[in-house]
Amino acid sequence: MNAVLRRVTLDGVAAGPEAEVPAWLAELYRRAYGDAAERVLADLLEPQPLWLSLSDEGVRALESEGSVVKGGPQGVDRVSLERPLRQTAAYSRGQAQPINPASLACVDALGDVAGARVLDLAGGAGVKAAMLATRGAKVTSVDLVGAKHEAARANLRRLGLKADFLTHDLTRPLAVDPAPFVLLDAPCTGSGTLRSHPEIKLRLTPDAVDEMARLQGQMLPNAAALVAPGGTLVYSVCSVTPQEGPEVVARFLETQPGFAAESVPGLEVPHVPAGPGVLTVPEGGIDGFFIARLRRQA
Ligand SMILES: C[S@@+](CC[C@H](N)C(=O)[O-])C[C@H]1O[C@@H](n2cnc3c(N)ncnc32)[C@H](O)[C@@H]1O
Repeated sequence: MNAVLRRVTLDGVAAGPEAEVPAWLAELYRRAYGDAAERVLADLLEPQPLWLSLSDEGVRALESEGSVVKGGPQGVDRVSLERPLRQTAAYSRGQAQPINPASLACVDALGDVAGARVLDLAGGAGVKAAMLATRGAKVTSVDLVGAKHEAARANLRRLGLKADFLTHDLTRPLAVDPAPFVLLDAPCTGSGTLRSHPEIKLRLTPDAVDEMARLQGQMLPNAAALVAPGGTLVYSVCSVTPQEGPEVVARFLETQPGFAAESVPGLEVPHVPAGPGVLTVPEGGIDGFFIARLRRQA
């Protein structure tokens, strides 16, 4: 189904990458990536490779089954599997977690979280929570949808990890103690993940982008209120539209002098500057994320 959707446009089957997405969306990619936009779109319309965060045992287990494991950015391996993932020993023993390197770059943007309390806001099914727990963080994951916590708990159990969970609408303030590290991986239009969600190019509208930007603009101040003095806030979205990334953070910084943007550490994926943050460049199977790191005054 995804293979068909990658080639389909609203008018039929398209000739080239720029013709495969609506003109307004192609223009947003050009604004984000300039001359590289066509190459980025072509790459985003290719199937998603399998990226796995693996322990050393996981690498050995996959290779002994005949899978091919190649090192990639952010320590995420690109894997050609010999059998379905869930039938591998590495997956069932909790030695493998699927994650795109750009998604892991959002976690790495927090810096060293070992032993620290981390609030994983809009934590969903807990993929980033799992990566934070792997790095030794004490994670509390918050999401609007309680059912997602069940999926996250099951995945953490498989990985032998733990986190706490809270169900909350983050358009409203959350009454928990501030933490030294807060990650807001906000809900977004997903325009940087067309390779795994090719239907987005057909259903996304400019109004939906604006609506998402409004929601993100409501959530960011509530996330910021949970950052302890001197602490770090990472805001990320898997979208490359200026409205959902740089503009949300720039508006926030205009009204919150207690926060300042910092450079994003630990970036091994290709990226370009984007206002107060960076955009990862979708090439070679990397997704497009906007990532900003903000520091609260001590
Ligand atoms: C980008 S996804 C999170 C992915 C997750 N961080 C991960 O890495 O697995 C965004 C999440 O925001 C949640 N969400 C949407 N609106 C919300 C709200 N008002 N308050 C809290 N969470 C919300 C959605 O349920 C969804 O799980």
